[in-house]
Amino acid sequence: MRIAFDEDRVTVQAPAKLNLFLELLARRADGYHDLETLMVAVDLCDQLSLQSRDDGELHLAADWAATIPCHTSLGDVPAGHDNIVVQALERLRERAGVSLGANIRLRKRIPSAAGLGGASSDAAAALLGANVLWDLRWTTAELSLLAAELGSDVPFFLGASAAVCRGRGEQIEPLPSLPRLDVVIVRPPEGLSTPAVYGRCQVADSPASVDPAVAAWRRGDIAGLARHMTNRLEPAAEALSPWIARLRAAFAEQNCYGHQMSGSGTSYFGLCRHALHARQVASRLRARDIGYVVCTRTISLLAPEQGDQQAA
Ligand code: C5P
Repeated sequence: MRIAFDEDRVTVQAPAKLNLFLELLARRADGYHDLETLMVAVDLCDQLSLQSRDDGELHLAADWAATIPCHTSLGDVPAGHDNIVVQALERLRERAGVSLGANIRLRKRIPSAAGLGGASSDAAAALLGANVLWDLRWTTAELSLLAAELGSDVPFFLGASAAVCRGRGEQIEPLPSLPRLDVVIVRPPEGLSTPAVYGRCQVADSPASVDPAVAAWRRGDIAGLARHMTNRLEPAAEALSPWIARLRAAFAEQNCYGHQMSGSGTSYFGLCRHALHARQVASRLRARDIGYVVCTRTISLLAPEQGDQQAA
């Protein structure tokens, strides 16, 4: 996460993620699934800014950035306690035993119900930002425990730019950052609810291993990585939304290294060959009117330990 200070304000850029590999290992008794996923952060960011309040109030002002087209039917940004940012700050404050509040400004760019981790990233940004704002000095490991209570994907966003995530997603094995990957992401006009997709998914008899994809990642072999891309949630999402098959067909014509759905959908992405190729793919897909098209790239994040808030 990139964190900046401006007088009394802390501003955090909260990136989206893509799942380059996602396999389900088992259905658990607690309703979750054990999984193995290779996640990368991309330079499509929500912006969260925080100012401390002495009266203990947590006041959230949240909206969509003007760049998000309204036809994407993203709905309202949750307000007040319904927003995971407020829930994150309430829990952090309670555990840390502080009585301070905050004015919170959230400018959303990451489409919701999209499998891009927007809300999870916002929650992680809130924890990292308030840790600085309220001078709590929690370590990343301490923040991770609280992050996992808020959602399976939240711990990833505390530090890693690329990682294998296991358990229900909260066990993070950071990977070295690769040179940038140019990607195009499309969020079709409809989203999907994560529990609905997980509720329909099937665990394979012999789940695929993430190891070949990780080995290709470590070699910097994008073509090899693309050959091992998979998302076990895609068939379930495809049964719930006609957009997944449409997007697959559209990306199949774009000469990408590989393409698939991210997370529980409905966003779909392609790994492009270089920045110009990504711009060309984005422009061709925009002409088809299949949703909100984003041309972006992977980013590097540094784990910000207390006292080291500068991240790349
Ligand atoms: O942890 P999070 O709140 O993001 O999970 C949302 C829902 O997604 C869960 O209630 C569960 O239905 C499903 N899920 C799952 N296995 C995971 C992560 C999420 O079944 N590893």
